[in-house]
Amino acid sequence: MPNPWLAISLEDYEGHMSSEGVRQTPALSQLFRRALDRFRPASVAVLGIAGGNGLEHIDSAATKRVVGVDINQKYLDQVHRRFPQLPGLESHCHDLAHDVLSIPQVDLVYAALIFEHAGLGRALDNALALVEPSGTLAVVLQLPSDTAQAVAATSYASMQDLKRDFALIDVDGLVRLLAEKGFPLVDNTRQELPAGKAFWYGAFTRR
Ligand SMILES: C[S@@+](CC[C@H](N)C(=O)[O-])C[C@H]1O[C@@H](n2cnc3c(N)ncnc32)[C@H](O)[C@@H]1O
Repeated sequence: MPNPWLAISLEDYEGHMSSEGVRQTPALSQLFRRALDRFRPASVAVLGIAGGNGLEHIDSAATKRVVGVDINQKYLDQVHRRFPQLPGLESHCHDLAHDVLSIPQVDLVYAALIFEHAGLGRALDNALALVEPSGTLAVVLQLPSDTAQAVAATSYASMQDLKRDFALIDVDGLVRLLAEKGFPLVDNTRQELPAGKAFWYGAFTRR
């Protein structure tokens, strides 16, 4: 069965994320900013880049290479149209859960709400392999909620197809796993969302 993200238009994804019952776009953008401000990377990769939410925070005086990875080529094309001024913008169309990436490493890998869809197997191996020595993987995870559905019901019906492959990631388990792999946690925060859910942000620097 083809990956459900291939059948979702960027308009639907972004409309869903900005809907009253979701409103996650600004929080994701601010968490990306937190990572950029703290690590001031010369190169950054965004896994599951969608339409490039948060790329406006990149300071091109500091960051000279920006790598977008997504399974949906149309999203990557739109990122190029939206951010023509970004230095060294590369796009790589890959299925992170199945392909083995061979992209030169970067200082910061940002992976927001991607492991819920792509899992922690090959996708995590790909993310870690992309991190330079002393570089950082920053992750945003959706936290469990008693009141909100994992994929909220909005007027964008296509988004409900994502439920099939969606699984929350356990924060403590990920922190332990990454420490074992030589990536201790160096920064974290919890971000409450207006629609009742919350995100967990963690940054892991390669030892
Ligand atoms: C929930 S969005 C990520 C949030 C996004 N970073 C933001 O700030 O809005 C998930 C993104 O990951 C991509 N994606 C999902 N599964 C993927 C996979 N297996 N490989 C590569 N990209 C994938 C989707 O196409 C989508 O752009």
